[in-house]
Amino acid sequence: MPLIKWNDSFSVNIVEIDLQHQKLVSLINDLNQAMLQGMGKVALTNILNELVAYTVNHFGTEEKYFAQYKYPDSDSHKKEHLAFVEKVASFKKDFDSGKLGLSIEVMQFLSDWLQNHIKGTDKKYGPFFNTKGLK
Ligand code: FEO
Repeated sequence: MPLIKWNDSFSVNIVEIDLQHQKLVSLINDLNQAMLQGMGKVALTNILNELVAYTVNHFGTEEKYFAQYKYPDSDSHKKEHLAFVEKVASFKKDFDSGKLGLSIEVMQFLSDWLQNHIKGTDKKYGPFFNTKGLK
């Protein structure tokens, strides 16, 4: 069973962003599945690297639109992105050095953060961008 199951409650009503969020959900589910199946470090590292890169790319997409349309809540939203990137970078460093393994707790943190961020913070920009013609 996937750790996160996509449904309409995740939608921010912007197709490009919903597709990126679906990809993030899928990468977290893949990582969780790989951990549960006891896959080796190389396989886990590959998925983790893809998750980190895709997350940075995704935040970049949102922040590009924040700047383009002068989104008023941009600063606090960007702070959340930065805090998550720093947290995941620190986790990845410990994982790469062998200090920390992937665990149910780590997966739960990633899953909770993404779901709370999409449903709490991201969803707030939907109506604003929709009025700018971004759908
Ligand atoms: Fe979809 Fe603000 O990250």
